[in-house]
Amino acid sequence: MIPERVSEEQWTRSLRRKRLRSLAPLHLNLHHRRQTSRAMADMTTDRASAGAGADRFVLRALAVPDFHKGFMQLLGQLTVAGDVSEAQFAERVQRLGDDHYVAVIEDMEKNQIVATGSVFVEHKFVRNCGKAGHIEDVVVDQSVRGQHLGQRIVEFLTRFAEDKGCYKVILDCTIQNSSFYEKCGYKKKEIQMAVYF
Ligand SMILES: CC(C)(COP(=O)(O)OP(=O)(O)OC[C@H]1O[C@@H](n2cnc3c(N)ncnc32)[C@H](O)[C@@H]1OP(=O)(O)O)[C@@H](O)C(=O)NCCC(=O)NCCS
Repeated sequence: MIPERVSEEQWTRSLRRKRLRSLAPLHLNLHHRRQTSRAMADMTTDRASAGAGADRFVLRALAVPDFHKGFMQLLGQLTVAGDVSEAQFAERVQRLGDDHYVAVIEDMEKNQIVATGSVFVEHKFVRNCGKAGHIEDVVVDQSVRGQHLGQRIVEFLTRFAEDKGCYKVILDCTIQNSSFYEKCGYKKKEIQMAVYF
């Protein structure tokens, strides 16, 4: 299991050390899975060696108090976030089950949520009742873009889905953002279609 207290700063650094970053996250073989598991274990016990950046930007699961840390305003940089009350927010957070993980990165210097993304694990019938991960709502605050926080979120969510036994993870994005996701290990496949209500 991926513990909520895992810091992605530590994870990314650990992956760099182990030269795993060039691997497509969806195609890790067993050997690399073991290495990654060890890297995650390192993260939970090796905070001190991760440097100051790891302490400033902490990745964890969304929590109810994040309502007062700019979470909804951050989503507003992605799309229409709406006028959500604190009670609605708390109810929605409490409804998140084991198959729905909303990751946030908090800037500990400002007590603000500066990055987020979510993954939903779909239980399917195809692929022997396999599971597929769906990544949604990835956004990084304008003030801290370009510092690999988006990549850390996406790689964490991808690993979460893999850890849950998903055979794939899929997401939709604009053409302009496709290079970003390629750097996170994703490849273009098919096209997106949608109907909005
Ligand atoms: C897209 C977004 C999440 C990227 O977050 P970020 O933290 O700035 O990106 P990172 O620093 O993690 O970028 C990782 C790599 O991708 C590159 N990259 C990031 N955005 C890119 C883009 N739009 N086009 C091309 N490359 C991009 C970075 O240069 C970096 O490359 P490097 O490893 O060679 O240095 C952020 O720009 C954002 O929130 N945009 C607005 C909301 C949005 O469009 N969300 C995506 C919805 S699908």
